[in-house]
Amino acid sequence: MYQENDLDKIDIHAEPPIEEPARQYYFMAKCRKWVKGFEQRNGRLPKSCVLNFGCQMNARDSEKLRGILREMGYAEASEEQADFIIFNTCTVRENANTRVYGRLGQLKPQKKKNPHMMIGLCGCMMQEPEVVEKLKKSYRFVDIIFGTHNIFKFAELVATRLESDRTVIDIWKDTDQIVEDLPNERKYTFKSGINIMFGCNNFCSYCIVPYVRGRERSRDPKAIVREIEKLVADGVSEVMLLGQNVNSYGKTLDTPMTFAQLLREIEKIEGLHRIRFMTSHPKDLSDELIEVMADSKKICKHLHLPVQSGSTNILTKMNRRYTKEQYLNLVEKIRRAVPDISLTTDIIVGFPGETEEDFEETLDVVRKVRYDSAFTFIYSKRTGTPAAVMEDQIPEDVIKNRFDRLLKEVQAIAAETCAVHEGTVKEALVENICDHDPEMVTGRLSNNLLVHFRGGKELIGKYVDVELSECRGFYYIGAMR
Ligand code: SAH
Ligand code: SF4
Ligand code: F3S
Repeated sequence: MYQENDLDKIDIHAEPPIEEPARQYYFMAKCRKWVKGFEQRNGRLPKSCVLNFGCQMNARDSEKLRGILREMGYAEASEEQADFIIFNTCTVRENANTRVYGRLGQLKPQKKKNPHMMIGLCGCMMQEPEVVEKLKKSYRFVDIIFGTHNIFKFAELVATRLESDRTVIDIWKDTDQIVEDLPNERKYTFKSGINIMFGCNNFCSYCIVPYVRGRERSRDPKAIVREIEKLVADGVSEVMLLGQNVNSYGKTLDTPMTFAQLLREIEKIEGLHRIRFMTSHPKDLSDELIEVMADSKKICKHLHLPVQSGSTNILTKMNRRYTKEQYLNLVEKIRRAVPDISLTTDIIVGFPGETEEDFEETLDVVRKVRYDSAFTFIYSKRTGTPAAVMEDQIPEDVIKNRFDRLLKEVQAIAAETCAVHEGTVKEALVENICDHDPEMVTGRLSNNLLVHFRGGKELIGKYVDVELSECRGFYYIGAMR
């Protein structure tokens, strides 16, 4: 294992090492020298800011970038104050892209005023060739552009930029490489996301993720366990195992292993209190996994199980590879094994060809499953995906109408399912001071719901028993027991 704090011993005048991650530590050391020079010239450290626009995997990648920047010696700052701003982008829906262009436009005048300023762009959007073309043409003030497959090379790209005046663009089409043991900076001291796999092989017909994140690759289980052990030693008690389809974990390993087997290994880690994971694809959710969830003391009582649509016809066109009945049977099986589990989902409205009857099927699933909450999305056409060229794209007004009806149904049911726990006492992990009231803290229950209750910052990171006095739709007001 590489020692992060040995950076000063690296001879930056020698040739860079070939192997990873040693090569990246060499470039971090080089950048650190530049940072020291900056400090001498300007009487202060350069400041950086990493913003992420996407999912939890994107957020985790941002933590890795922050960790590398910290090793280089950068201080953290807000977007307005930063000398180096990095946008970690998402492209799952068109509006994610629009937001990035909007924010980028706002940075141009800021960059003119601040001669030190650098702008970096990375993440899923950068894996689309049209995006990079547009940036090269219309956003020439961007300094560094890289993609999802070579994010581990961040230090090297920064060093290259600091040594030349040209925009550094490095995008890989795909990779089979997983670089372990790079630094990272956690947002919370007591909980952390952990990648267990990268990429996706499912090719749901609407989804761009397999094109921008590449083929499915699982991390070595020993590296995962070692990382969690290290985190636990560092104060983490809750982990979120991350992958686009965690239920197919392990298939590509030299010695294949199932996700359920991995969970059993992680369960053994002493000092670890809670295990979460996302996302589960219904087609790969095994009986073995249900059994492990039922037996486990640490796996949280929450399962995010995206249904996308309730219509078998649409599910087929989406290439989801399950039917409405199979999904409902799966839900029943899970509920039987883990009765108090909270279920959440993702739903897309307005997929090409979706009829009123198809949509009614979705409402039917929502009513039958009674989700604790659901993320509802308007279908967004992604160039290059099979659904983008399907006939029968649905008019905007029809989609809007269905979306509103679905949201109303989802919210009404969520409020009812949330109210079921009113009056009970449950264990909460205190995450932060309540956003709306400095006298209160916010804790997360095993079922992923939030509870606000009177308390101070000394409780942050601790597990406390809280009475859920009052349900307010999708959260509680409670009192510590
Ligand atoms: N791998 C996860 C989800 C990744 S994307 C899974 O399979 O469940 C998160 C969610 O975004 C998806 O579940 C889906 O509901 C939504 N989504 C993906 N592509 C979309 C698109 N083109 N338009 C609208 N929503 C989309
Ligand atoms: Fe996209 Fe489907 Fe893969 Fe999820 S499983 S990332 S929705 S292709
Ligand atoms: Fe977006 Fe990429 Fe995640 S497209 S949803 S950031 S995998």
